[in-house]
Amino acid sequence: NQESKIKAYMEEKRVPHVLIFPFPAQGHINQMLKLAELLCLSSIKVTFLNTHHNHNRLLQFTDIRSRFARFPGLFRLESISDGAPDDHPRPSGFTLDFSKLFNMNSIMSPDLRNLLLSNANTTPVTCVICDGIMTFAIDVAKELGIQTIAFRTTSTSYVWALLCLPKLIQSGHIPFPENADMDESVLAVPGMEGFFFRRRDAPSFYNVKEVTNPALQFFINETFNSTKASALILNTVDDLEAPFLTQIRPKHFQNVYTIGPLHTLLNNLRVATNGHDRIDFSSSNHNGLWEQDRSCLAWLDSQAVKSVVYVSFGSVAVLTESQQVEFWYGLVNSGYPFLWVKRSGRGYSGEGDENIPEELREGVEKRGYIVGWAPQEEVLAHRAVGGFLTHSGWNSTLESLVAGVPMICWPHQVDQQMNSRVVGEMWKIGVDMKDRCDRSTVETMVRDVMCGERREEIIRSMAEIGDVAKKAGHITQMLKLAELLCLSGIQV
Ligand code: UDX
Repeated sequence: NQESKIKAYMEEKRVPHVLIFPFPAQGHINQMLKLAELLCLSSIKVTFLNTHHNHNRLLQFTDIRSRFARFPGLFRLESISDGAPDDHPRPSGFTLDFSKLFNMNSIMSPDLRNLLLSNANTTPVTCVICDGIMTFAIDVAKELGIQTIAFRTTSTSYVWALLCLPKLIQSGHIPFPENADMDESVLAVPGMEGFFFRRRDAPSFYNVKEVTNPALQFFINETFNSTKASALILNTVDDLEAPFLTQIRPKHFQNVYTIGPLHTLLNNLRVATNGHDRIDFSSSNHNGLWEQDRSCLAWLDSQAVKSVVYVSFGSVAVLTESQQVEFWYGLVNSGYPFLWVKRSGRGYSGEGDENIPEELREGVEKRGYIVGWAPQEEVLAHRAVGGFLTHSGWNSTLESLVAGVPMICWPHQVDQQMNSRVVGEMWKIGVDMKDRCDRSTVETMVRDVMCGERREEIIRSMAEIGDVAKKAGHITQMLKLAELLCLSGIQV
């Protein structure tokens, strides 16, 4: 029976074994896969748990098996159902049926519990690292006496904004008053003074009509539930987000491990443990739920140094056709060549460009190169790339920062509005288009970032801020990782 299984389980767990469970979306899975690889590099056994749907996509589109083949016996993939058949439509990059979002607990908890209890061919799990918005996993693990750590894949500023929500609702700041001035500060409550966030910089779901909005409630609940874990992992650097970290630690989270930028830490460790030329990570897709089109690297080779604008709106955002037309006009009129990622596959409603004017089509053919999914980290590191028109997803922001590529930010949703404000106003390493999307703004901002005085200012700040991020990829971050492992009962 269940009780004796739990007892047997608790008696048996000895060898460190971490189960990692990301939210079913690209920007979450790729960060947690990096953490998984870091743990395997430290000889720790990892079970990586996905929904069946994303598990199949990872196997289909990435070289996940070869990526972890270097760790025989240490890495295992597992999957459970997200409550919908594999061919059920899932919205864009979320790769989860939205109607199931608020029921993840009841849908996934039983399978998660069974998986944790099953000892077949493996050592029992001793630590669960779950996504900070999958907190039912914390409850299941705690019930079995397993150590828990939450991983938030967003910026700290956003986590802090979520923690402020109850106070903002209580004080009547949320919902925003009708016809509110979006340029006014929204954060005029205790603890939030002195920041530079206007209403238009607040997370997208701050702008709800009713506080009972299910998405708003979901994010509030998940954030407060995640404080029940023993620790919080953030893909960030103390010196980059110090003002926000001070707000959340130790008041809300006692143990916060800022082990970012994860891709830098991982790349450094890969080199340290294998040497530059022993493993070639460049020729395969280790990073996505879509098939990479590597032909863009050859196209970039043919372009002048720092001349190309790389354009990607991440894994979730979907553009309307008119937004795409405005972006294309702005880019073509700026005169710079551009590499445009047009995500393909299920749920992408931006396909079919029937209404694109002929003159624009010609301009795009002349100046643009379009791919379905790019090897983004390599693209950003390419000598030809001079600017990044981005939706300000947290991964993209960190990747651009480390690569030293100035950003033109067009935030789409959730945390991105805050990230773009931090990029434009706090770090000053890009320009923030915010909610504007017209051809002349695009053209002006592309020019500002690609040449002239503004670019020089940005490059100066970039050198400073980028240095903070890159340096963090060394000893301090590794020490934090070591401490984190100790907390998970792992000997380091
Ligand atoms: C969203 C949120 O905005 C983000 O802050 C959160 O952490 C995860 O969910 P997403 O839209 O996926 O993220 O954007 P982003 O965080 O930037 O992640 C996209 C990832 O996909 C990046 O790591 C990027 O390198 C990769 N990518 C993107 C590719 O590999 N190829 C592409 O063509 C586009």
